[in-house]
Amino acid sequence: MDIAPSILTADFTELGRVLDDAIEAGIKWIHLDVMDGNWVTNKTITFGPAVVRSIRDRVGEDVFIDCHLMITNAEETWMQYADAGADLIIAHIEAVRKPRKIIDEIKEAGKAVGFVLNPDTDENEIIPYLEDLDLVLVMSVVPGKGGQSFMPEVEGKVREFRSRIDSQVSNGGKRTMLMIDGGIKAHNAKIVSSWGVDVAVVGSGLINDKGSISENHKKILSSL
Ligand code: DX5
Ligand code: ZN
Repeated sequence: MDIAPSILTADFTELGRVLDDAIEAGIKWIHLDVMDGNWVTNKTITFGPAVVRSIRDRVGEDVFIDCHLMITNAEETWMQYADAGADLIIAHIEAVRKPRKIIDEIKEAGKAVGFVLNPDTDENEIIPYLEDLDLVLVMSVVPGKGGQSFMPEVEGKVREFRSRIDSQVSNGGKRTMLMIDGGIKAHNAKIVSSWGVDVAVVGSGLINDKGSISENHKKILSSL
C-alpha cells in the first residue's frame, strides 16, 4: 500500500519545506484537498488552482498530484486544477450532476479521473462508473478537516470495491486504484491495507504527529 500525504494540516507558511521533506522521504504522490467554503459541512476554504500551480512548480514533474475536489461546481471548474498541474482529478459523486460527462471530459483532457464518496454515501452511487475510473476514493472521515478519527464502518464499502475491481481486472478491465482518506495512522494502516486499499491518504499522521515526515512515513510503512 502506498502513502499519499495530504498537506491540509501543514503550516501553510511552511508548505515549501513540507513538500521538500516529503519528496526527500521518497514520497511520490501528493494529495491536495480543495475546499470552496461551501460544499463541506464546516464550510471551510482551503486553496485553489494558484496554490496547486505553485506546488507543481515546487515538486517538479515527477511527483504525482491529485486534487480532491470538495467543491460545489467541480463540473465547471475541474479544468482549472488540471491546467494548474494536477495529474488526477477526484470529484465527489454527491456533487456531480452528470457523472458520465465529467469522466469523458477529464479523460479527453489527458488526465486521470476518480470519484470519491462520503462515509454515508452508498457504493452503488459509484459502481455503475467503476470500470471507467482510474481511481475510487473512500472517505473514512466526514470531509472538511484533517486530524479526525478513522471511521472503521467503511470496511464493507472498501471490500466491495476491492472485489468488484478484482473481477473487473480478471475480465480484462481497468485496474481502478482503490484509495482511502481520513484518520489513517501507523496504528491502523495495516488494517486498511488488509482490506485491499492501494493508496492511503495520510495528513496529520505524517505532518503533525511527533517526528519528521520521513520518520512518520517509515513508521507507517514498517507497520504494514
Ligand atoms: C479531509 C481530507 C483528508 C484529510 C486527511 O476532508 O479530504 O485528505 O486532510 O487528513 P488526516 O490524515 O489527518 O485525517
Ligand atoms: Zn482528501
